[in-house]
Amino acid sequence: MRAATIRDGEVLVAEHPDPQPGAGEVLVRVHAAGLNGADIHQRAGHYPAPPGSPPDIPGLELAGEVAARGPGAERFAEGDRVMAIVGGGGQAELCTVHERQLMPVPDALDWVAAGGAPEVFTTAHDALFTQAGLSSGERLLVHGAAGGVGTAGVQLGAAAGAHVTATVRNPGLRDDVAALGAHAVIDPEGFAEHGPFDVVLELVGAPNLAGDLHALAIGGRIVVIGIGGGAKADLHLGALMGKRATLRASTLRPRMLEEKALTARAMERNVLPLFERGVLRVPVAATYPLDAVGEAYERFTAGGKLGKIVMTLR
Ligand SMILES: NC(=O)c1ccc[n+]([C@@H]2O[C@H](COP(=O)([O-])OP(=O)(O)OC[C@H]3O[C@@H](n4cnc5c(N)ncnc54)[C@H](OP(=O)(O)O)[C@@H]3O)[C@@H](O)[C@H]2O)c1
Repeated sequence: MRAATIRDGEVLVAEHPDPQPGAGEVLVRVHAAGLNGADIHQRAGHYPAPPGSPPDIPGLELAGEVAARGPGAERFAEGDRVMAIVGGGGQAELCTVHERQLMPVPDALDWVAAGGAPEVFTTAHDALFTQAGLSSGERLLVHGAAGGVGTAGVQLGAAAGAHVTATVRNPGLRDDVAALGAHAVIDPEGFAEHGPFDVVLELVGAPNLAGDLHALAIGGRIVVIGIGGGAKADLHLGALMGKRATLRASTLRPRMLEEKALTARAMERNVLPLFERGVLRVPVAATYPLDAVGEAYERFTAGGKLGKIVMTLR
């Protein structure tokens, strides 16, 4: 098979042996695979794939059809449309995935949308609801809201009945983020004066933390998911105590199969029906064929996009 391949800090296309599905695994013929920040870090040598994933094939999510099933894999039949988060190896013509990590692709999603949905919607859903316990009527702040996770978080928050404020640094994308359901879309500069917020989805990182705490309501929750803007922050513990605040943080990629399976079941229960009903969509800024993998990575790195960059594999 052909696959995006990381060699010496570059990403190119190379031949690899076809993977074989093991017990409980499914071989997926990949149609589309989204790009994520982790791919860029892996290309730079900073984020090795977890054990069990191909070390040199990037890609944390995929959508495709079931090509074959390993021993004991029974949840899906050959030809079924499936999608998943994976530890790596998604940007390839073929990828093996444990069946418990797979989700059915809603009819409402075409291949490109399905290829860009699993990582960001799973991340946003897990952060907002499983970790921060966001509920109807609460005030949510989403930082970095024009990106993949941000556009998912804004839509999920609005769909759950939260009042959503979004920070977007590119003025040209603010109307688009409002159209996804954000009630207020603001410049990141001075965001802390727009509180109070019950939940903050922190996708930019350390530079926002003091402002997040300042703008937090009593009993508020901050969930740190992205640190592209910086990883080290000063934190006033007195303010944290005074707000009776919760500061949480999380990564998805290194989780055990059991934990990833739980996130897939939560997606099937709570998120996939909203795609079917047209409540949620996957904004895709650009698609690239596998042969243009280098351009796809450059486009992702350039930023200033709404939603996802997705690679098409057939
Ligand atoms: N913990 C996890 O499990 C997990 C899972 C998925 C993603 N992540 C991380 O979460 C972050 C968001 O992911 P994503 O897929 O949404 O990435 P993305 O599509 O690249 O979006 C990032 C967004 O944040 C904005 N941004 C970046 N730096 C900023 C800054 N210093 N000030 C203001 N805005 C800034 C970007 O604006 P511009 O376009 O203008 O640059 C963009 O809109 C990334 O750091 C990613 O690595 C973590």
